[in-house]
Order: sequence, then C-alpha cells, then structure tokens
Amino acid sequence: SLEDYGISPEHGFLSPESPLEVLPDPYYAKWEAVVANLQPLLLSKRVRGLVDRLPILSTTHLQTDAEWRRAYVVLVFMLHGYVWGGDRPAERVPPQLTVPLFEVCERLEVPPVATYAGVCLWNYKPIFPDEPASDLDNLACLQTFTGSLDEQWFYLVSVAIEARGAPTIPLMLQAISAARVGKAGVVTECLQQMAEILDEITALLQRMYDNCDPYIFYNRIRPYLAGSKNMADAGLPKGLLYDDGRNQPEYRQYGGGSNAQSSLIQFFDIVLGIEHRPTGVGRNASDESKSRHSFIHDMRAYMPGPHRRFLEDIDSIANIRAFVETHRADPALRLAYDACLSMLRAMRDKHIQIVSRYIILQSRGARGSTHSAGSDQPPATNLATANPTDKKKLRGTGGTALIPFLKQARDETGEPAIDAW
Ligand code: HEM
Ligand code: ALA
Repeated sequence: SLEDYGISPEHGFLSPESPLEVLPDPYYAKWEAVVANLQPLLLSKRVRGLVDRLPILSTTHLQTDAEWRRAYVVLVFMLHGYVWGGDRPAERVPPQLTVPLFEVCERLEVPPVATYAGVCLWNYKPIFPDEPASDLDNLACLQTFTGSLDEQWFYLVSVAIEARGAPTIPLMLQAISAARVGKAGVVTECLQQMAEILDEITALLQRMYDNCDPYIFYNRIRPYLAGSKNMADAGLPKGLLYDDGRNQPEYRQYGGGSNAQSSLIQFFDIVLGIEHRPTGVGRNASDESKSRHSFIHDMRAYMPGPHRRFLEDIDSIANIRAFVETHRADPALRLAYDACLSMLRAMRDKHIQIVSRYIILQSRGARGSTHSAGSDQPPATNLATANPTDKKKLRGTGGTALIPFLKQARDETGEPAIDAW
C-alpha cells in the first residue's frame, strides 16, 4: 500500500501529518535554540562558534518518525548555516553536526545535505489546521535561513504543488490497473483529470512571482542552498570534510537542494512514459550513451528511501504509454494522453522562464549592482555570482548547466506524443 512508501493519498510525498515545529524532548533544546535564532546568528556570523560549543547530542531520544524528520530539518539548516554563514565557506563539518546527522540520515535514507525533503516536504504547517493544507494561502513555513517572506514563499510554492499533485498518485495507480484489464474509458477519464491537475500545478508555479523577489532569491536565499559538489569556485575544491571525531575525516561531495529532487514530478514522468537522457544525448543516440543515467534519475539518491523505492516500483509497472500506443485508434484516449504531455511540457516551459528571471538575469545584474558588494551578504557561493560574465559556468544548485539541461528535459516531455508516432 501507499503507506509502506511513506505516501498518503491526501498529502502525497509531504509528511502525512503536519511536521513537528520543535523536538518535544527538552534534551534537544540546544539544537532548537540555534535554529530558532538562525537569522540573528547568521547576521552576527555566530553560527559556527555556537555549533562548535554544542555538546554532541545522541539520537536515542528521538522516538517517532516525525521527530527523526524534525531532527533532519534542524541539522541540515544548522549545517548549511555553518558552512555558508561566514566570509568563507567552512570546509570542515564538526562532530556536533556530523555524528547525529549521519545517524538521522541513515534512518531516513537521505544524504547528509539539505535536500528538497528537508526544506520543503518536512518543513511546513497549515496556518489553520482545519483548512486544507493544499491551499497556498493556508501554508506557513517552519524553518528558513533568512526569515524573509521570499524564502518562505519559495518553499511554500513547492509544498502547495506537492499537495495539489498528491491526488494524481491514486489516480494514476487506478489508470495503471484499468489499462491492465483493457478499460480504455477509465484510463481516458484518469488522464483527463491528470491533465487538469497538471495545469493547476503550472498555475501554482507561476505564483512564485507573487512573493519571491528574484534579487532576494538569487543573492540572499540561494547561496545557503548550495551543496558541495563542483563548488571549487565557491571555495570548496574537494567538497566538505565530514569530521565525526572518531575516524579519519573524509571529504564528501553532495549536490545542493533542488526541486529536481521532487518525487512528484518524477512520478509524472514515469507514469506517462517520459524518458530523460543525460544532457547532450539526443533521441537517436546510441544505446550505449542512452544507458547512462540522467541527472534527473540520479536525483533519486536525494529522495527519502521509501519515495525512491516507490518510483522504482512504478517504473516497473508503468503501462499507460504502451496502452495508448496499442489503442491509438481511440481518439479520446489519445487526446487525453497528449493533453497530459503538453500540460507537463507547458509547466517545464514556465519553469524555464522562472530560471531565466531568477538566475540568468540575476547573474548578469550582479555585476553592476550597488547591492551586490555588501559585506552583510552570504558569500557568493554559486558559480554564477562568483563569475557572472562566464556564462558557461552557470550552474543550478543541483549542479546542472541550467538551460541546456532544462530545455532538453522539456523537449523529452513531448517525445512520446501520439502525433509524433
Ligand atoms: C530543476 C531553478 C522552482 C521544479 C531546476 C534547476 C534549476 C531550477 C536551476 C536545474 C537543476 C539544478 O541544477 O538545480 C528553479 C528556480 C526556482 C524553481 C530558480 C524558483 C525561483 C521550482 C518549482 C518547481 C520546480 C516551484 C516545482 C514544480 C523543478 C524540476 C526540476 C527543476 C522538476 C528538474 C528538471 C525537470 O524535471 O525538468 N530548477 N526552480 N522548480 N526544478 Fe526548479
Ligand atoms: N535549483 C534551484 C537553483 O539552482 C534552487 O537555484
């Protein structure tokens, strides 16, 4: 059942109950005190000093799943505040973070870095619990780096999309079952509803502009979301040195937080039979070059374990595309399927526009801006800010080359369309 994968029919990949605002055991009060004061501590550059003086807390006082998830949120916000909250990035992660973080990550099956799960899926609450959590106007964010409305909105738009998209999970499972027994009418109806939801998701995505300012996003928020992979220009040539105080500290590299880690969007691709290739590998490339995993596929390693397994299992039962192909004489079915593809493609188109406004344009604007040199800013962690004139080096927080990657993902979305057959 869906519950075995940590998925609920109402909330999808979001945590089933609304996430904990604080760890209930007072044993963790020192952690909660750091994250409750993260903004002033970042402004005064005191995160590192404070974390270095923390005791190494044990995870034995964590009881429920919700507590483990809260511990992950607390630890990754502390981690990224620690690494990026100074004039230079901190290369060494101290045992106060490393020891509990490794245990929490092993339990939740996530990497020791701020992922989409940590900043979005497990980091929200409904403002009024008796109103729907899927309503963007009823969502509050639990933890931020900057405390800004912009940062809250950046995460909450994603939360609302996850909530709105949740019903597609039972819906598409129904379509898969119906396709198995040849009920074309049911498959058609499911796909029609799916197309409508995809359209609403695009509308939610567009609401990013309402309250998240591109300048604030690029210069104030995004630097904290950076990872440790390909971050030489930002001052982490070898990645982060995770010191657990026991073993020889080892360098590790992880991609930063990115919506590419959303299981929901990958679920759409899988059920619709959309395939993503490595960037630069065309449709007619050799089987060998196609067999390499795409970035999108690699992002599954950044999802919570049960969600990752869910996608793998859906991969093995996805049959809708083949069903539509064999029933191509059925115009309603074809139309409904193609509508899903074009809605998802439209979503990726709008997303590319967002990326050009929030990243590409900002990276250019960064040059002459009077705001960009202030010493109260987080360091220029992304390669774009580090060298705004070098377009080739622009990278997403997840590590992609932005536009070539995103355009290819968009184009691949249209490839299974019936018209093209
Ligand atoms: C990937 C930027 C909001 C969905 C990416 C990538 C960038 C990016 C640069 C490339 C991967 C990487 O290197 O990180 C942005 C910006 C946003 C934003 C600047 C807002 C200011 C969203 C939202 C969604 C979303 C709200 C939710 C639908 C995706 C997906 C991918 C992705 C699904 C993987 C590529 C794909 O499947 O087409 N984003 N993103 N993004 N983003 Fe966003
Ligand atoms: N993945 C988004 C970026 O690169 C957050 O800015």
